[in-house]
Amino acid sequence: KEVENQQQERDNFLVIAHRGASGYAPENTFKAYNTAKSMNADYIEIDIHMTKDGKLVAIHDKKVNRTTNGTGKITNMTLDEIKKLDAGSWFNKKYPKKARDKYKGLKIPTLEGIFQHYGKNVNYYIETKSPEIYPGMVDKLIELLKKYDLIDKDPQTKNVIIQSFSPKSLKKVHRINPNIPLIQLLWYTPSKNGDLKEWKGVTPSPNEIGPKIWKEINQYAVGIGSNVFYKGKSVVGKQFVQQARNNKLLVHAYTINKKNRMEKLIKWGVTGMFTNYPDKLSNVLKNI
Ligand code: G3P
Ligand code: CA
Repeated sequence: KEVENQQQERDNFLVIAHRGASGYAPENTFKAYNTAKSMNADYIEIDIHMTKDGKLVAIHDKKVNRTTNGTGKITNMTLDEIKKLDAGSWFNKKYPKKARDKYKGLKIPTLEGIFQHYGKNVNYYIETKSPEIYPGMVDKLIELLKKYDLIDKDPQTKNVIIQSFSPKSLKKVHRINPNIPLIQLLWYTPSKNGDLKEWKGVTPSPNEIGPKIWKEINQYAVGIGSNVFYKGKSVVGKQFVQQARNNKLLVHAYTINKKNRMEKLIKWGVTGMFTNYPDKLSNVLKNI
């Protein structure tokens, strides 16, 4: 029976390609998403921000500076301005061994462009970044999901998962449509006195972690997404993972790129992982 359960856990385990297969191609571009698809990742993770003219675009940072040849905040730029940027060349410079000519001049995708391109051929794990600074972001996201028929009535199929650090924005999604599976993101760092610190006071404090908080998250989300390591050291452990699981929450750990960490976390009972190397995680799963 236990072997059967373990097998089922393995079958349900999610390989989530973090910003696409971003270990191999520039993050949050079609090349990274295509690579993830070719590696059969279960979900493609996409971070979204909103332009000045209200378009949802796939990029991780609030500013375009790190991953394009431009500068400035997305909220101050129009989609036309965003479309002019090169979102691939930075990768070639930063990772010369992984550089490819085809990465030069890649564009920042719009979320709608992504849905148009892949339709239902991939599963999307979408993070609303800083929803508090983008009024209307959640409504636009749900509108697009509806337009491309991506909200499943059947909870078993789940074409789309939405994740956010903001409980407020997740609760809003849940109010609008309780069929969309949601993941509450958490981020913990050690503080000077050695205790844990939560992220900007937005996510639950580690002091609150206990039955009450798990129950509260359970009211709107199907699980949590948490960092496990910070600067090489673990910040949360097996007990944390087990507590969440005992409270019927899925646990997706981010961002796990090393084989030994993948193996360890599977043993702890996490139910999925965000990784820049989905092929590596699939291999670990096959061999465990
Ligand atoms: O969304 C999970 C993980 O991606 C959160 O970290 O900074 O890579 O978006 P980040
Ligand atoms: Ca993310």
